[in-house]
Amino acid sequence: MTAEIIDIIHEPQRAISEATRVLKDGFPVAIPTETVYGLAADATRAEAISRIYETKGRPQFNPLICHVCDIEMAERYAVFDPVSRRLAETFWPGPLTIILPLRQDSTVHPLATAGLETVGLRCPEGYANELIRAFDRPLAAPSANTSGKISPTAARHVMEDLGDKLQLIINGGVSPIGVESTIVRVDPDTGAILLLRPGGLAAMEIADVAGRDLQRRAGPAAIIEAPGMLASHYAPGAAVRLNATLIEPGEALIRFGSVSVTGMEKAAINLDLSPTADLAQAAANLFEYLKRADASGAANIAVTPIPNEGLGEAINDRLARAAAPRDGET
Ligand code: TXA
Ligand code: MG
Repeated sequence: MTAEIIDIIHEPQRAISEATRVLKDGFPVAIPTETVYGLAADATRAEAISRIYETKGRPQFNPLICHVCDIEMAERYAVFDPVSRRLAETFWPGPLTIILPLRQDSTVHPLATAGLETVGLRCPEGYANELIRAFDRPLAAPSANTSGKISPTAARHVMEDLGDKLQLIINGGVSPIGVESTIVRVDPDTGAILLLRPGGLAAMEIADVAGRDLQRRAGPAAIIEAPGMLASHYAPGAAVRLNATLIEPGEALIRFGSVSVTGMEKAAINLDLSPTADLAQAAANLFEYLKRADASGAANIAVTPIPNEGLGEAINDRLARAAAPRDGET
C-alpha cells in the first residue's frame, strides 16, 4: 500500500470527505496540525487506536492526546476545573494540551488513555479542527512518525517514514509552530499548574494568564507524569552534541542567531535555525533541520547553545532528547 496524498489547498472538500471516510472505516489518517503532523484515529474505537500504535511501533502504555474541536466537545469527555477552563478559553484552538479527569460516562477508549483516569485534550486549529467537527468525535493523534524518530512537520516527512503503512496523508503545508503542544495538568484543589512537557506555547504565556508560575518536575518524575516522554525521543541517526562552541571537520552544524563557530567552514552542512535569533522561527525549523543534518551523512550533529526562555524551553527539551543515549545503548 502507498498512501494517497490529498492537498487541502487544491481539494479542500475531498480532504475532509476522504479523511472522514477512512476514519469511519476505523483506520488512521495523517493530518496537518499547527504543531506537527498527527496520526489521527477515532479515539472511541479500540481497533482504530490499535492501528495507531501498530503503525508507529509505539509501546502500548503511552497515552495519546485526544483532539477536540471546542470546549463543548471536550466537556463530553472530561471535567474542567476553573483554571483549566480559563486556559482552554484563552489558548484553544492552539498548541496547548490539558490533562483532565475523565468523565464517568466518557466514551474515549481506555487504549487511548492507557487505562488512566485522566485524558489529555487539545483543540487544534485550521484543517484538523474542521475535520474533527465534521467527524463529530475526538481524534487520538500522536505525531505521525515511527516511535522514537523525529516528528514530522511536512507531509513529505510522513510519506517517507510511513507512506507504505497508511491509506491517506492530508497535505497542509509546513506546520507553522514546528514543535509539539505544551502539556499541563492543574491540581484541582490548589490550582497549581504542572508543566509536563514544554512545547509550542511558552510557559510564560500560561503563567501570565493564570497569574502564577508553572511548576516543573525534572527527570524521572516527569517521565511518570507523561509516560510517553521516553528519554531517547526524537532520535536522528547521527549522534547529537549540544552547546557546541567549536566543530570538528565533517560534523554537521546547527547554529542559532548567526553565531560563528570555530571550524564551521569544514562542517558537512551548516544550518542556522534563525539567523535573527527568533525562537519561533527556530522552533519551526528545528525538526526539518535535524532531518537535513542527519541526511548529510555526518556521524555527529553539533548544535550551538539556544537561549532557554520562551519557546527555547521546548527547543532545548527536544534537543536534549535527541542527544540522550539511545535505546539499547548505555
Ligand atoms: O502537538 C501535539 O501535541 C501533537 C499533535 C499531533 O497534536 N501530538 C502529540 O501527541 O505530541 P503524542 O501522543 O506524541 O504525545 C502525547 C504525550 C505523551 O508524552 C503522553 O505521555 C502525554 O502526552 N499524555 C497523554 N495523555 C496523558 C495523560 N492522561 N496523563 C499524562 N500524560 C499524558
Ligand atoms: Mg511524538
